[in-house]
Amino acid sequence: MKQAYENYTPEDLEVWQLLFSRQQKNLQDKACKAYIDALNEMEWGLNMNEVPRFEKLNELLLNKTGWSIEVVPGLIPVEDFFLLLKDKKFSASTWLRPKAQLDYLEEPDMFHDIFGHIPLLMDEEYASFAQKLGEVGVKFIDNKEVVLQLQRLYWFTIEFGLIKGKSKTEIYGAGILSSFGESNGIYDTSPEIKPYNFSSIINQPFRTDIIQTLYFEIESFEQLYDSLTEFDKHLTQLKYA
Ligand SMILES: [Fe+2]
Repeated sequence: MKQAYENYTPEDLEVWQLLFSRQQKNLQDKACKAYIDALNEMEWGLNMNEVPRFEKLNELLLNKTGWSIEVVPGLIPVEDFFLLLKDKKFSASTWLRPKAQLDYLEEPDMFHDIFGHIPLLMDEEYASFAQKLGEVGVKFIDNKEVVLQLQRLYWFTIEFGLIKGKSKTEIYGAGILSSFGESNGIYDTSPEIKPYNFSSIINQPFRTDIIQTLYFEIESFEQLYDSLTEFDKHLTQLKYA
C-alpha cells in the first residue's frame, strides 16, 4: 500500500496543523530529549506546514537508522507486526481523525502513528529495542504466552513508556506523546509510576479503552534493550533445553 497523498483534504491539513502545533509546543518540557531532538532533526519532513509525506520521512529514517514506514490499512495481525519490526519497518495508517474528534480516537490514526512513533526511530538505541522486540516476537510467534508478554512489554514501553529525565519524569511512549490530555495528565493527575521492571511488566494486563492509570519509568533505552536481550536468552535456553 502507498500513501495516496492527493486524497488529503483541506480539513486533513487543518487537523494536522492544529494537532502538530499544539502538541509540539506542549511537549517541549515533557518529552524526553531524544524525542525533541529527533523532532527537530526531522523538521524538513515533519512539520506543521504539510501533511507529512512518507517518502520524505523514509529518506530521513533510512539515512539515520535504516528504518522506514510501511503503510497499513489499520490494525494488523501481531505476526505481521512483529515481522515488520524485525525488518525495521514501522506500520502506519494514513488517515487523519476528523476535526470534530480532535481528542477522541478509537483506532490509531496518522497523527498517533507518525507524530507519536516515528521520531524516536531516529534514535539508535530506541530503534534497536524496537527491532529486537520484533525479532523476539517472530522467534516465539507460536508461543501464545510469550506473544502476550511481548505485547504487554510493547504497551508499557513503546506506547506508554516514561523515562527518567534530568530533573523530572519525561515521556517517550507514543500513546502519550500523541495525546494532549494524557501528556498533561502525567503531571497533573499523579498517576501511579513504577520503576521499570521487566518481570512485572510482562505479567501486567492492560486496558486499551481508558487513560492509563499505571506507568513504568525506565532509566535509559539501553536498559530496555538489555532486559529484552536477557529475556530472549532465557526463552532460547528453555526452548532448546
Ligand atoms: Fe501506537
